[in-house]
Amino acid sequence: MSTPLLISTWSFSLPIIEAEFPRLADTGNALDVVEACAISAESNESIDSVGYGGLPDRNGRCTFDAAVMKSPSESGAVCGIERHRHPVSVARLVMEQTEHSMLVGSLADDFADKQGITSENILAESAKAKWEAWKKTNMPPVPPPPLDIGTGELFGSHDTIGTIGIDAGGTMAGSCSTSGMAWKVPGRVGDSPIIGHGLYVDPQRGAATGTGHGELISGICGSFLIVELMGRGASPEDAIHDTLARLAQCWPLKKEHQVAFIATTPKGKYAAGALRPGFKSAVCDGSQQAILDPEIVLH
Ligand code: GLY
Repeated sequence: MSTPLLISTWSFSLPIIEAEFPRLADTGNALDVVEACAISAESNESIDSVGYGGLPDRNGRCTFDAAVMKSPSESGAVCGIERHRHPVSVARLVMEQTEHSMLVGSLADDFADKQGITSENILAESAKAKWEAWKKTNMPPVPPPPLDIGTGELFGSHDTIGTIGIDAGGTMAGSCSTSGMAWKVPGRVGDSPIIGHGLYVDPQRGAATGTGHGELISGICGSFLIVELMGRGASPEDAIHDTLARLAQCWPLKKEHQVAFIATTPKGKYAAGALRPGFKSAVCDGSQQAILDPEIVLH
């Protein structure tokens, strides 16, 4: 347990948080750093479920969702945007420039235009090619769960980047960004941009972010539940365990389902857990920069 701390979902995020950790450890603030981590993943075309390179819906249209959060009274989110490559930055503008906490669809894109963010094509040629290949195969619309063997390369789908930072001043912030489930029903939004589902940060209680099947996470307000349990005295490990167990009680689990969470207390005691094997998280703190196996694998 130490701060500054930067933790993130999946092994692909290790080089991202390694690049940002020195700034966090110096004078950087947690919100700038977790936004920069999401931007980095959103810019990496090889990560095919976050930002540019993300896979489209079943009609071949790509939409992005993202959220940022510092506290229950400081959060911002966008969902279903189609013309801006960095949804995390639009989410931050919602938090900082409006009285609201979420904007959706084309009106969120219009908001980003008015804030001076360049409108761009968000469907990469690589993602379009994967969609065209999928259309030809007649494969089921729900892809297999992501499998992370710790090399930064994932098998199956890549899934959400969720990042939590605690800066040298002790301020906590989180970000979460995704292009959502590959081949989704057009209009589908998962957990990532919904406060309390894919991301929750409370300076008094801790922070959590989720990845995997958004519908399962949303069904139990997963990130909120973890933070609430920590606020009532549970360790991050126990809070994640109990949240995954609750989720497993509530859902008839299918083989393609995977959910994972990372969480930290305000003082930097952190843990990770997943419904099934195949999840890794990345951590940078004063003592290590590493890819970690989760403390909990429920099934
Ligand atoms: N966890 C990302 C999603 O379900 O959209």
